Amino acid sequence: MQPLKGLILSGGKGTRLRPITHTSAKQLVPVANKPVLFYGIEAMAQAGIEDVGIIIAPETGEEIRATAGDGSRFGIRITYILQDEPAGLAHAVLTAEPFLGDSPFVMYLGDNLLQGGIEDLVAAFTDHQPDALILLTQVPDPENYGVAELDDGTVVRLVEKPPEPRTDLALVGVYMFTARVHAAAKAIEPSARGELEITDAIQHLVDE
Ligand code: TTP
Repeated sequence: MQPLKGLILSGGKGTRLRPITHTSAKQLVPVANKPVLFYGIEAMAQAGIEDVGIIIAPETGEEIRATAGDGSRFGIRITYILQDEPAGLAHAVLTAEPFLGDSPFVMYLGDNLLQGGIEDLVAAFTDHQPDALILLTQVPDPENYGVAELDDGTVVRLVEKPPEPRTDLALVGVYMFTARVHAAAKAIEPSARGELEITDAIQHLVDE
């Protein structure tokens, strides 16, 4: 397998964290005295990922860039990738395609924080070499998340914010993909909320 790249999604609108995010990027909101974004960057560095792209929005991109810099303080290289509009997580992946090329990659939502890092996940991805590896966690309110249905550990169905969820298994904001995800992201249509959904792209991989 080629070396993994990293992709951190730090664009978006942040409407649900208003008013905190009216003036500032939500990925820079501190958690235990450091910007939540740094947890993703540090997890990548710890897992040995050297090349990390960060998706930024026109409104908050400069602030993100000023805070995270060129990555040298984390021991990695950071490339900033401007996404003109927050058109969905799969749209962000397509925006990053020139940076990602045909590399497999870890995608980390910049407003998420995964306890314990990603080293075990990277090892599982490298060992089993699936086209996609996702993380799930049981939640009391699955209707607010992407929800997975499993058959013996394999994902058979993913639905974004289903009004009547069939399981309580919510997607966590860290994903691993091979370059096949780009074709999947190009094959899908925007959802009812007008976004290219990563759940739909993964469902496309499952169906194919
Ligand atoms: P979300 O929380 O799904 O979206 P959002 O930031 O637009 O927030 P809200 O729903 O509160 O308005 O985004 C998860 C992460 O991905 C977050 O760090 C923002 C980022 N993101 C992008 O970089 N590009 C996108 O097109 C979207 C939708 C999100």
